[in-house]
Amino acid sequence: MSEIETRLDNGVLEVQFNRPEKKNAITEQMYKDLAQAFVSARVNDDIRVVLISGHKSCFTAGNDLKDFLENPPEDDDSPVFRFLQTVADFPKPIVAAVNGPAIGIGTTLLLHCDLVFSGEGAKFQLPFVNLGLVPEFASSYLLPLRVGHAKASEWLLTGKMFDAHEAKSAGLINEVYKDEQFFSAALHHAQKLAQLPNESVMISKRLMKQTYMSHTLQIMDEEGALFRRRLASDDFKKAVDAFLSR
Ligand code: COA
Repeated sequence: MSEIETRLDNGVLEVQFNRPEKKNAITEQMYKDLAQAFVSARVNDDIRVVLISGHKSCFTAGNDLKDFLENPPEDDDSPVFRFLQTVADFPKPIVAAVNGPAIGIGTTLLLHCDLVFSGEGAKFQLPFVNLGLVPEFASSYLLPLRVGHAKASEWLLTGKMFDAHEAKSAGLINEVYKDEQFFSAALHHAQKLAQLPNESVMISKRLMKQTYMSHTLQIMDEEGALFRRRLASDDFKKAVDAFLSR
């Protein structure tokens, strides 16, 4: 079994994090596989919607901290940054099904999804500052735009964990379902989207995003350079050592 599972069913490409023993923490190889899945989905006319998910009790614990310490991404061409770029301007709709921890990129990824459905057990967190890092995936720009400056500061500057109801009332996610239902509900929404006129769906997505797309890509570059610098900081090393030696 791969750590990134994909299956295509009726126009919906399901992309699933599959590393449950490490809470679906994402390694360099997983970023390569994710980027490849999105690059192929972009040009495959049989794929109309991408549905991204983890497991029933865990979406993803974010970047694999050990991997990041040992193999830090060196430039914009590294697998993680290639994945971010591929998703940020992906032309087809992306639906997310989230439950359990959605940490770091597990939350910032949602800012690039078109519909997000969670279970009641979802827990979101943006612990970049706590780790000595800075926001990524254009979250320093897109999060205030989405949820307002006050909420974005609370989440990005304190790194507090927040639940599904807080995420919904702030406008980060579309709907909260019971834990047993969140995946089937998200799949249902993805299948419905896949049956709509494809061109109209893609044009509508583009129209909604085009006014801030170039700024999003520019901010992602700026954040990326700062993020890479902070990965080499003592603050980050100390935070990872503390996490790994718990
Ligand atoms: N990177 C690397 N390994 C991770 C990881 C991460 N981001 N998140 C979890 N793991 C590993 C743990 O080290 C542990 O490995 P072990 O069994 O070999 O000791 C295993 O996954 C299970 O994690 P554990 O912490 O025991 O599970 P939990 O249910 O108590 O807590 C989390 C789950 C997600 C809340 C917690 O693991 C966590 O906070 N992880 C770090 C999140 C983070 O800071 N991500 C980076 C954002 S940039």
